[in-house]
Order: sequence, then C-alpha cells, then structure tokens
Amino acid sequence: MTKPPPDAKELTVGQLAARSGVAVTALHFYEEKGLIRSRRTAGNQRRYSRDTLRRVAFIRVAQRVGIPLRMVGEALAGLPEERTPNREDWTRLSASWRAELDIRIEQLTRLRDKLSDCVGCGCLSIDRCVLRNPDDRLGDEGTGPRRLLSPRLADESRFPSL
Ligand code: FES
Repeated sequence: MTKPPPDAKELTVGQLAARSGVAVTALHFYEEKGLIRSRRTAGNQRRYSRDTLRRVAFIRVAQRVGIPLRMVGEALAGLPEERTPNREDWTRLSASWRAELDIRIEQLTRLRDKLSDCVGCGCLSIDRCVLRNPDDRLGDEGTGPRRLLSPRLADESRFPSL
C-alpha cells in the first residue's frame, strides 16, 4: 500500500489504510459503526474524502487514551456531514471534550504516580496496604481501586471499563 498523492481529494480504502496506519478491517469496522463514511463508485468500490484521515486520527488517539467508541461517535456526529470540517468545527468538538479529557488526564496521572503504592483495591497484598487501606476500609466507599479513582471517576456506571 502506498501513500496517496497529496492532491488526491478522495482515497481508496487501501490509501486510507496506508496513510492512517489503520488496517483495512478496522476502517470497515469504523464505517460499520458510522464513525467514517464513504461513497461507492460505479464499480461498487469505496471512496473516502481526504478529511476522513483526520477523523481516523481522532478515533485512534481517543481509543488509545481509553475513550469508548460510543463517545467518539457522539463527538464525531457533531461535525458537519455536507462539507469538510473546518478548524472552528474541530475547536467546537475539542471544547466539548475538555472536561472529559481533564478527567482522563487526572486518571492517568494518578495511575502513573500511585501504581507502586496501595491503590485501595481490597487485595491488602502490599505492605503499604496496612497504612493506606487498613482492613480494607476503603471498600466501604464502593468498588474498585478507591485510591486510584478520582472522585469524578468513582461512578462505576459511567466508566464500566475501569
Ligand atoms: S493494593 Fe489492594 S488494597 Fe492495597
């Protein structure tokens, strides 16, 4: 697969895969989920507008930081369909995600800083658990690693994957 020429307005699925670094099967999956769109040629081949590369980049980065596809889809649904999203469109999207990203950053910072310490998960397996979570008292507050979850993330129903 080769990179599409810079003047190509539409990309084949192979070109989209080559430039985005995302497998064709994953691109088909994104399309199935409505995250990206294509038109069909007379020969029934998919063609993607070039700005699909930016959508795919957004999807990949969001996935990498643990944002569920459902939320990615909701965010992308706010972009215009009838034209290429411009900078203002992406600015609007990023503004709507600021709180969400702040929560993720806080979560990742805690993960980085506290993983070698007791996380309050109820295992009581680390010598520090005696100090940080004596007799699993944190278990009275709720499920999961109580010292790792920020108060905002403690709502397990909102973040079932944590
Ligand atoms: S690490 Fe699990 S309770 Fe301390």
